[in-house]
Amino acid sequence: MRIVMIGAGYVGLVSGACLSEFGHEVVCVDKDPARIAALQGGRIPIFEPGLEAVVAANAKAGRLSFTADLAAAVRKAEAVFIAVGTPTRRGDGHADLTHVFQAARDIADNLGGYTVVVTKSTVPVGTGREVQEVIRAARPDADFDVASNPEFLREGSAIEDFRRPDRVVVGCGGERAREVMREIYRPLFINETPMLFTGRESAELIKYASNAFLATKITFINEMADLCEKVGTDVKDVARGMGLDKRIGAKFLQAGPGFGGSCFPKDTLALLKTSQAQGAVTRIVEAVVNVNDARKPAMARKIADALGGELAGKTVALLGLTFKPNTDDMRDAPSLDIVPALRQMGATVRAYDPEGMVQARRLMDVETCDDAYDTMKDADVLVLLTEWNEFRALNLVKVGELLKQKLIVDLRNIYAPAQMQAYGFAYVSIGRPAVRPAPALAVAAE
Ligand SMILES: NC(=O)c1ccc[n+]([C@@H]2O[C@H](COP(=O)([O-])OP(=O)(O)OC[C@H]3O[C@@H](n4cnc5c(N)ncnc54)[C@H](O)[C@@H]3O)[C@@H](O)[C@H]2O)c1
Repeated sequence: MRIVMIGAGYVGLVSGACLSEFGHEVVCVDKDPARIAALQGGRIPIFEPGLEAVVAANAKAGRLSFTADLAAAVRKAEAVFIAVGTPTRRGDGHADLTHVFQAARDIADNLGGYTVVVTKSTVPVGTGREVQEVIRAARPDADFDVASNPEFLREGSAIEDFRRPDRVVVGCGGERAREVMREIYRPLFINETPMLFTGRESAELIKYASNAFLATKITFINEMADLCEKVGTDVKDVARGMGLDKRIGAKFLQAGPGFGGSCFPKDTLALLKTSQAQGAVTRIVEAVVNVNDARKPAMARKIADALGGELAGKTVALLGLTFKPNTDDMRDAPSLDIVPALRQMGATVRAYDPEGMVQARRLMDVETCDDAYDTMKDADVLVLLTEWNEFRALNLVKVGELLKQKLIVDLRNIYAPAQMQAYGFAYVSIGRPAVRPAPALAVAAE
């Protein structure tokens, strides 16, 4: 099939590359000329494990190409995917659909023969109908259908997620469009991926409902963690005990500093706004949004409390800036709230992140360091904020030597309290009793 992917970002580029790997002829279009120039030159503008190899192999095979010329690409396409950003609209919290409707108008101007226009961007229920109206108004003569095909991949494991999804959801009315969508995803039939055909509105809502449910799970365990701290028990045990129940499941039950990233914050808010506009307020989602918003400043206070409540003149060594490991994406990362709050309280923050520092420097005032250990020199506390693998196996003797005082605040529960105690650290984590150093047990410097 000849496919056009509009938007070559985290979703568009991964989807385009993987669809070309399925054997389709894919052209990725982006309005950002620098992004297209980079891709044409073989450079990947985002960090996503495994993406470079898939792009290179399929570009070499002639199945994947990049262009800023949307018109020529769309004219020949059998399916045109819209994978542009749908950020929070400034001022009111609804999803900003400016890019989606711009793409719809651009598509309308250039439609050739029968084409399925597929919304892959996360869009509020009813957007597919509006996209159809925009195209129909511009091109009453055009032969097209509009389908919804929300994307569920996760940054950091996006390639695997696209190749082996739990399900493919397609919302469209007619059999003609269904057949095109079935053909696009045919390679997934080999591993028996469930393909769920629904109405367009259902598909649109499935995406928001799924993200809101996952965000709720995270927020639920975060609140349990707060309770665990009060009653002196361990949230990891509680989460494990809950997660072994197959009706609950163990995933998304890791307590932490609150969810962030390019999807959960904006999608929970957009779903809440839709529900309010429809007069069917989703109170659980409302609570999730509010509880999560309050959690970031609470994390900054937790760090301050570990230092005796006073941050003026203190240096905080911070590991991890991106919202999760294996991505360079800084959108709505908890660090964007926590770092300024620490600075506001008078702290100096020295940070390191394996992939996020270029973006982080654009978004906040933070001193970035060459590596993890570089942040710690003479710092008053080490804060673990993102669970990159390289932070899971720090040389704890060296950490103890570099820090001014042996204090760690672990907002991801990467380490075991007993181990920290044995190495002579005071250790504060999430939903577990804080530990003081045990000097008699302290491991001697190697
Ligand atoms: N990032 C994720 O993990 C993820 C997962 C599932 C779904 N989604 C959804 O997918 C959509 C895209 O997200 P993303 O993270 O890939 O965004 P992104 O910002 O990384 O990429 C969007 C790209 O679209 C381009 N663009 C915008 N308007 C355009 C236009 N009119 N013509 C051509 N190009 C245009 C931008 O230049 C940008 O490169 C969003 O709706 C998001 O909610 C994202």
